[in-house]
Amino acid sequence: MEQQKRYGHFDDQHREYVITDPQTPWPWINYLGNEDFFSLISNTAGGYSFYKDAKFRRITRYRYNNVPMDNGGRYFYIKDGDTVWNPGWKPCKTPLDFYECRHGMSYTRVTGRKNGVEASVLFFVPLKKWAEVQKLTLTNQSNEVKNLKLFSFEEWCLWNAATDMENFQRNFSTGEVEIEGSTIYHKTEYRERRNHYAFYHVNTPIQGFDTDRETFVGLYNEFADPQVVIEGKPRNSHAHGWSPIASHYIEVTLQPGESKDFVFLLGYIENEQDKKFSAPQVINKDKAHALIAELDTTQKVDQAFAELCQYWDALLNIYNVRTGNDKLDRMVNIWNQYQCMVTFNFSRSASFFESGIGRGMGFRDSNQDLVGFVHQIPSRARQRIIDIASTQFPDGGCYHQYQPLTKRGNNDIGGGFNDDPCWLIFGTVAYIKETGDFSILDEMVPFDNQPGSEVTLFEHLKISMDHVINNLGPHMLPLIGRADWNDCLNLNCFSWDPNESFQTTENVSEGTKAESLMIAGLFVVTGKDYVALCQKLGKTQEAERMQKAIDAMIEAVKKHGWDGEWYLRAYDFYGNKIGSNECDEAKIFIESQGWCTMAEIGAQEGMVAKSLDSCKKYLECEHGMVLNNPAFTKYIYEYGEISSYPEGYKENAGIFCHNNPWVIIGECLAGRGNDAWSHYAKILPSYVEEKYQTLHKVEPYVNCQMVAGKDAFKPGEGKNSWLTGTAAWMWYTVSEFILGIKPDYDGIRIDPCLPETASDYTVNRKFRDAEYEITIHPNGAQKGVKAITLDGQLVDGTVIPYSAGKHVVEVTM
Ligand code: GLC
Ligand code: GLC
Repeated sequence: MEQQKRYGHFDDQHREYVITDPQTPWPWINYLGNEDFFSLISNTAGGYSFYKDAKFRRITRYRYNNVPMDNGGRYFYIKDGDTVWNPGWKPCKTPLDFYECRHGMSYTRVTGRKNGVEASVLFFVPLKKWAEVQKLTLTNQSNEVKNLKLFSFEEWCLWNAATDMENFQRNFSTGEVEIEGSTIYHKTEYRERRNHYAFYHVNTPIQGFDTDRETFVGLYNEFADPQVVIEGKPRNSHAHGWSPIASHYIEVTLQPGESKDFVFLLGYIENEQDKKFSAPQVINKDKAHALIAELDTTQKVDQAFAELCQYWDALLNIYNVRTGNDKLDRMVNIWNQYQCMVTFNFSRSASFFESGIGRGMGFRDSNQDLVGFVHQIPSRARQRIIDIASTQFPDGGCYHQYQPLTKRGNNDIGGGFNDDPCWLIFGTVAYIKETGDFSILDEMVPFDNQPGSEVTLFEHLKISMDHVINNLGPHMLPLIGRADWNDCLNLNCFSWDPNESFQTTENVSEGTKAESLMIAGLFVVTGKDYVALCQKLGKTQEAERMQKAIDAMIEAVKKHGWDGEWYLRAYDFYGNKIGSNECDEAKIFIESQGWCTMAEIGAQEGMVAKSLDSCKKYLECEHGMVLNNPAFTKYIYEYGEISSYPEGYKENAGIFCHNNPWVIIGECLAGRGNDAWSHYAKILPSYVEEKYQTLHKVEPYVNCQMVAGKDAFKPGEGKNSWLTGTAAWMWYTVSEFILGIKPDYDGIRIDPCLPETASDYTVNRKFRDAEYEITIHPNGAQKGVKAITLDGQLVDGTVIPYSAGKHVVEVTM
């Protein structure tokens, strides 16, 4: 194997990834903020901030797909004599004597050293605050007195990130700012309908400022050589229209060995309608003053940072494993859980591959995301379930996406993705099992957010199941609609017009025979959950009704969904097989193997084992399992977007990591621990980190959505990092199916599935008001719990009955 260059390493003790070379193969980013105010920050401090919604409330400007890549962010320029440098290397790219970026849990610390000066910046969003703190520490490590000129820099976005990028005939005339002491206020459109503004403050007197971009940068200069910085002299510019920015100018003298802190604060404020102004044209700054006062000293900021760290300590103490395998432990205990929180917060909206403009919160995406997060903050998962269900229609269909700010369904994309409804059951059941809170089922939840239309959440679950039953095709398999989980398998689309969206174009659906085996499997899996829930609630008749529908679906799959060695993927509009040995290309797809093995359809007839073997034979490669095989080599009008991608990328035979865990769970249910583990380790970031930093390109501490598959030009190259259902599925798979600690209505079910080489391990699991210390002794077994003791007493079966307090559990396999 070719030795690959390394750009960083894990620091497990601090729960950080340490980047030691700024020129990573792609920007390696982190997320700041936990609830309302969020920032994206790269290893060179590029990125942007927004309030709740990356489209409608963008605070600072960012240009995607820029040249150079990742241009724009929060930049500190240090002018030391004739040398100008930045702590994060960019944008000046002055070679540094030392560089380090530490991405931690909701914070990032960037440190640079040049000519005897160290600049270290800690970036974080304090809990419950609408602000990003940037604590800059300058230290003179030389033997001479240093006279430095420091310039800060942020560029404002005119709030709506979409119009900010297109409506220049208006934008260049609307920009407005105010300057008061060391605070620069951005108030564009505040004079009319907006009741919010932003500010950029520093906790020290300043010797100058700039707020007009062209004055600061110069029309023919770049971020790398802003004319004001080069000249070493601010112009005190006041922006009127054009592009407002915020830059402070501070003169700093440091004695040898001396160190000084500067607290910069990027804040966001909303005012009540009748309190918007303190004088004509003057914004009411009371709330800004109050927010600044809370974070205007090193001590206050350090305190806020300590609280953030404690917050993460508590979250990561809920599930903690010690296996002795660092690579596994660090993913389970730190990075996988962290990524789950991030994807829960952002859905697929804002990353370095998602512009924050196009997509809000996905119906199916968000339901899956909350499964990765519900053990951490169940109350937020509860609210999310209600928000999601409120975008459902009375027939059980639903909006495919909604906007986080308005919580309204997105009309541009609409509905018609026929897997969507099932995911509501998946999310809700996970929530109840974690919390024991059945009361959520009695919550009154509207349809399409229409007041007066409310029915109970349970009713929403029921119509979700019914939506599948009411939309069956000629083989009694679920009609696919616009697409199922695979957004790109568009079987009713038929488009030769490049101006049409594959997702929203449904040129023909009348008379369609397009059916999905993926939805069939999903229906059986979530249906079993639904039936168990009904039984738990004493709704026996409803349980029986649904059990019949499930049995019928299982029969339909066995009869019409089996290809001999694997499950078919679908039937197309005309009723032809997709994902069959009879097809020229794409003979086998992963989604139906995953869902039908998870549903254990035809297990007794040997279908499950054969399907899993086929995944190994046809889909698996060095970097994971590809989505389909062989790849499509040409566009197929009947199939839609899937065949629009070149071979090996995205939904056309990419390793779409999201679906690998489905097969892994199938392996676990079948008791094939060795296979489950080898599939899992292939896409486990810590294993990839060790081998493929350069090839993989994207962040080595989180999963990415897609890794180029075996048919691609460069197999193993990663893309679309961070925001992916992979996070929740990796978590669900390892925590519940591999390590085998599975929340259930009445307690925790213990059922690991391990490679035969696994040694003893211990999981500490907080669950409702209890804390369990569970030690598993695998004894070389891949599956099968022989005996469990709870506080020394033998337990009957595999569920540890829930009771509050601390408990010790021993499990022998
Ligand atoms: C993206 C979407 C997700 C979809 C998947 C497969 O990850 O966010 O909803 O299921 O692609 O197309
Ligand atoms: C594209 C992507 C797919 C994503 C979809 C969302 O089709 O390939 O992954 O789910 O867009 O609209």
